[in-house]
Parts: sequence; structure tokens; C-alpha cells
Amino acid sequence: MRVLVIGSGAREHALLLGLRKDPGVDYLAVAPGNAGTATVAEQFDVDVTSADDVTALAVRLRVDLVVIGPEVPLALGVGDAVRATGIACFGPSKDAARIEGSKAFAKDVMAAAGVRTAASQTVDSPAHLDAALDRFGPAVGQAAWVVKDDGLAAGKGVVVTADRDAARAHAATLLDSGHPVLLESFLDGPEVSLFCLVDGAAVVPLVAAQDFKRVADGDTGPNTGGMGAYAPLPWLPESVRAEMVRELVEPVAAELVRRGCPFTGLLYAGLAMTSDGPAVVEFNCRFGDPETQAVLALLESPLGALLYATATGTLAEAAPLQWHDGYAVTVVLAAENYPGRPRFGDVITGSEADSVLHAGTARREDGAVVSCGGRVLSVVGTGADLPAARAAAYRVMSAIRLPGGHFRTDIGLAAAEGRITY
Ligand code: GLY
Repeated sequence: MRVLVIGSGAREHALLLGLRKDPGVDYLAVAPGNAGTATVAEQFDVDVTSADDVTALAVRLRVDLVVIGPEVPLALGVGDAVRATGIACFGPSKDAARIEGSKAFAKDVMAAAGVRTAASQTVDSPAHLDAALDRFGPAVGQAAWVVKDDGLAAGKGVVVTADRDAARAHAATLLDSGHPVLLESFLDGPEVSLFCLVDGAAVVPLVAAQDFKRVADGDTGPNTGGMGAYAPLPWLPESVRAEMVRELVEPVAAELVRRGCPFTGLLYAGLAMTSDGPAVVEFNCRFGDPETQAVLALLESPLGALLYATATGTLAEAAPLQWHDGYAVTVVLAAENYPGRPRFGDVITGSEADSVLHAGTARREDGAVVSCGGRVLSVVGTGADLPAARAAAYRVMSAIRLPGGHFRTDIGLAAAEGRITY
């Protein structure tokens, strides 16, 4: 099978490494990729938001499958354009991708599907902002205000704060730039990222993971696209994971079928384990980063065959998934000043190991690998237990040098110490 992966993050690097292990995959291409993916796949410089450019490349390379990593091309309909050429595509249609691209659409689908989620209100005018703030957060006894960009914001459109002025300022900035704002009730409890392969009504869950969204240790500092992850979750009973699939994911997949926009690809349920039971924080329409790097490190089943089965509507016939025993931990190395305006162009050394997955990296003419993104790379460690997986990840990280680079030191620590219960 010949496969083209679209994207340039550590998630795509992890997908490529997984695909390379599948004996059924004999050709790999990536666009646009980064300094790390260039060592795994033939690399092409393509505008991933251009349906014409992506489909032209897929046709020229005579690939059997296109895997679209990021949400933006999916929300723009690049998956539909690929399918229109007759090439199988892993990734939902533009209509189904609204489950991530429009929070208002996602809330409507969840309400129709009877899925537990935070109460919310969309605000599209500054005139309605103060009254809406009075209906959420500490104003009504909750821990914080949750203020979100209604559209795509790479994880950085969310502010969770107990400071009304900060909540108001974030909402006002979004409204000023023409973005509707979603105010939500705060869901307490540990968060879970549950990735599911979905083709129409068929749902196959992967092992659950946990993401670390704040930039600094102890869950402090601003939100990011994700600073680390671990999988599976030793504190989450299998029966609860099965219940989450049955009560939160399958009804949404069925509702999307009922609306005439069946989902094909990876449906990412971001959940909070509240005292009233699991509830949906958000759905995403693609693999999440950095959880994917940990989850795929544990997958034993051939990845190419699974993605192809999902893309071609034969997922229900696929063999049960096989997993390696043990745990995996991802730690993200970010550039100086991320998630603010990161500094680019710093030389990275020590990033050659197979367990280093590149994101914002590029190769300079003189051969040096330099930073060119906020999240620069991630390292993945595996081990028989969580402490061993953590130790493996941090050992790899300790060999990497990036001026001004920073990473969290507590990824998976609370779980490893048995401090998370449900
Ligand atoms: N892990 C957060 C995201 O992928 O959006």
C-alpha cells in the first residue's frame, strides 16, 4: 500500500513511524513534513489547505490512502476532494469535521444524541457578554469561567480562569476579531482523551490517554496545544472506558449518520471525569497531539491496515486491536516564549533518536536542525509501568539541547504516584 500523510507535527511523525512498521505499507510520503519526517518518508512541500495541491500530489504519487493529520484541511474539505478522485482518505468530510470546527454544531449534535456535556451559551456581541458571564463560573458557584473561541484555535482559544476580568478580556478580544465566543460551565475532575476510529456507526476505541494542556508544572500558566501525555490510564477502569464509548461516542457517531454527515476517521473525545460521571469537554475530528505519540507507541496491530479499513468503510470487519503491554509517556519540548510568540531559528542537537518525534523543526542548508515552531519536538518513553516510561522519556529529553527550550517535568507523575482516582 502507498500512503501519503498530510501534516507537519509530531503527530504526523508518529503516524509515519507506525505506518513504516506495517508490512503492508511499501511507500510513504509526507507533505509538508519537518526535519524528522524527512528521514521516514519522501517529503513534498505542499500547501495542506489547498484541496487542488493535495489531490494533485496524491494522484501523481498514485497513493492508495491519504491520511490527513491536522484539523484545518479537514474543516476546509480537503478530505472530500481526495475522496472525489477515488483515493481512500482517512479523515472526515467538511460537514462531519464541524464536530470540531464549530463548537455550536458540536453542542447541538450532543444535545440531540443525549450526551452529557457542559452547559453553554454562544455570545456573538459584546452587548450580551456581561449578562452571559453572570450565568457561568464563580458567579454561579463554579470554580472558573471557561471561555472558548467558537472556531478552530489550536487549543489556544480556551481560557479557564476564576478572574472575571481575565475571562471578560479574552471574550472581548475574540469578539473584536469577529469570532463568536462560547461560555461553558466548568467540568471538574481529571481529563481523559479517548480516541476512537470511526467509520459511520462503527466505533473502535484506542487506549485512553491524558493530556497536559497548561504550559508549566503543576498545571500552571496558560493553555497550550498540549505539553505531554501518557497512556493508558492506570486509574481508569476498563468498564468506565467501555461506558464512555457506549454513552458518549457511539451516540454522537450515530447522530452524525442520522444527519447525513457520517464521520470517517479519528473522533477524539475530550472528556472530564466529573463527580456525576464522564462528560464531554469537546470533540475533535483528528488524532490529538501529544496523546497520539503515546497511544501509537503501544499499538501492535498494523496501523496502515486499520486506517485503510476506516477510510473504506470496513472497520467493523477488522480484527480486534492488539496492544503492547506497559505504558508510554510523551514529553513536549517547546521553544522559548511558547505559547506566546515563540523564538525560531535555534539550533537543536541530540534529536536523532527514533523516540524523538519532530514538530516545529527544519533542516538548514548547512545541515543543522533548527526550531521553526512553538512545539518543537516530543520524546516518547515506554516501560513496563508508568515510572519506567517516564524515566525513559526524560532520559531521551536530557540528551537534547535547544537554547531557551522548556518542557514540563511532571508528565504522568500524579498517576505514577497513585494520586489520581476515579
Ligand atoms: N491534545 C490536544 C489537541 O490535540 O487538541
